[in-house]
Amino acid sequence: MDFPHLFYGNLLLNFYIMKQLSFAIVICSSLVLFACGSSTTKDAKSTKSDLKEQVTTPVVKSTTPTTAPKEYPKGKLGEMVKLGEDILNNTNTHPLTKDLVGNSLQCKSCHLKGSDAKPGTAAGIGTFFGTATAFPAYSKREKTVQSLQDRVNNCFMRSMNGKRPIIDSKASMAMATYITWLSTGMPIQQDAKRPCSPLNSERWAKNIKKMTKIQKKATHANYVKGKELYASKCSSCHGVDGAGVATFPPLWGKSKEGKWLSYNTGAGMSKLNKGAAWAQSNMPLNQGGTLSDQDAADIMLFVNAQPHADFNLQNGLQKDMGYYNSDVLKEKHSVRSNFKQLGLDVDVIRGDKAIN
Ligand code: HEC
Ligand code: HEC
Repeated sequence: MDFPHLFYGNLLLNFYIMKQLSFAIVICSSLVLFACGSSTTKDAKSTKSDLKEQVTTPVVKSTTPTTAPKEYPKGKLGEMVKLGEDILNNTNTHPLTKDLVGNSLQCKSCHLKGSDAKPGTAAGIGTFFGTATAFPAYSKREKTVQSLQDRVNNCFMRSMNGKRPIIDSKASMAMATYITWLSTGMPIQQDAKRPCSPLNSERWAKNIKKMTKIQKKATHANYVKGKELYASKCSSCHGVDGAGVATFPPLWGKSKEGKWLSYNTGAGMSKLNKGAAWAQSNMPLNQGGTLSDQDAADIMLFVNAQPHADFNLQNGLQKDMGYYNSDVLKEKHSVRSNFKQLGLDVDVIRGDKAIN
C-alpha cells in the first residue's frame, strides 16, 4: 500500500489508524521509515483498507496528538477541563446543560471517544484534535468570524435540538477549555474557509462533495437499499425504529412521551451529504471507513428521510443569552427542505407522503 507523503520542513509524518482491532502508527521521515504496532498495516493491499485510508486518515503534522494529554492542568484550569469533559459525556443530564438539550444525545454521540476513552479523540471526521487551533474562524452559516464558544453553543440549537447557552457561561467556557486542552502542543492554524480543525476541514469538504454527487441522483430504489443496509449494519445498535438500543444513541423519531430523540433538521448530520460523510468515516462503531461511498450515501438518505424535528433558529435563541455573533438571524429547515437542497423530493424518495 502506498502512503501519501507530505513534506513539512524536514519532517514527514503520516498517521494511520486501524480502529477495528488495534492502533497502528506508521511514521515516515525523509530518512527513516519504521512502524510500531501491527506490521500488517504496511502490507495490507485490499481495497477495503485503501478505502479506509481515504475516508478516515487525516494527513497530520508531528505535533498532532493521538490521545489527550496524560495529565490535567493544575488548579482551576484543570477543574474546568474536567468539567468540560463531563459535560461533553453527559450533556443531556448534566445540571449545567440539561435544560438546554432537547433530545437524548450527548456531544460524545458524534464526537466519538478514542482509545483514551475521552470525547472527541477518535480520528474520524468530528475529531476535536486541532479544533481549538482553527479559532476564531469564519463560518459561512453565520457569516461572521466565530469563537470556539460560539461554535460550541451553536451545537445546542442544532445537533442537541435545544437552546443556545449564555455566551461565556460556565458550561460554555468549560467545554471550550476541554476542547482547547486536546490541542495542547499543536500550532495555530486558522481557517478562512470553515470553522473546523485542520484534521477535519479538507477531508470533510471533499467527502461532502463526493456524497452530494452520488445523492443528487438518488431514487426510491436507493432509499430501499439504504433501508436494507440500515437493518443489517446499523439497527442492532440504533434500533429498527431508530430509537437507539440501551446506551446506543437514537437516530430519529420521538419517545413514547412525544419528545424528539435525536438531532434536528438544522444539524450538520441531518444534511444528506454531511450525514453520509460523517457516517462513512465513523460507523459502524469501530469500523469507520468500511462502508462504500454508495452504501454510506444510501443509508443516510434513508436515515435522514425519517422524522426529525424542524429547525427554526429563532426558537434556539434565548432572551438572556447575550450577544449572538451572527449576521444570519432567520433560518428554517425541515426534512423536506433538506431533501430539496439536493434537488430531491422526499415523497418520491420514500414512496409515500408520511413526512410533513
Ligand atoms: C448529531 C451529531 C452531533 C452532536 C450530538 C454534536 N455535534 Fe458537534 N459537530 C457535528 C458535526 C457533523 C460537525 C461538523 C460539521 C459541521 O460543520 O456541521 C460538528 C462540529 C463541531 C465542532 C467543530 C469541530 C471541528 O473542528 O471540526 C465543534 C467545536 C462541535 N461540533 C462541538 C460540539 C459540542 C460542544 C456538542 C455538544 C453540545 C456537539 N458538538 C454535539 C455533529 C454533532
Ligand atoms: C456496535 C454498535 C453500533 C453500530 C453497529 C452502529 N453504531 Fe452508530 N453509534 C454507536 C455509538 C455507541 C454511537 C455514539 C458514540 C458514543 O456514545 O460513544 C453512535 C453514533 C452514531 C450517530 C451519531 C449520533 C446519533 O445518534 O445521531 C450516527 C448518525 C450513527 N451512529 C449512525 C450509524 C449508522 C448509519 C450505522 C450503520 C452503518 C451505525 N451507526 C452502526 C454504535 C453503533
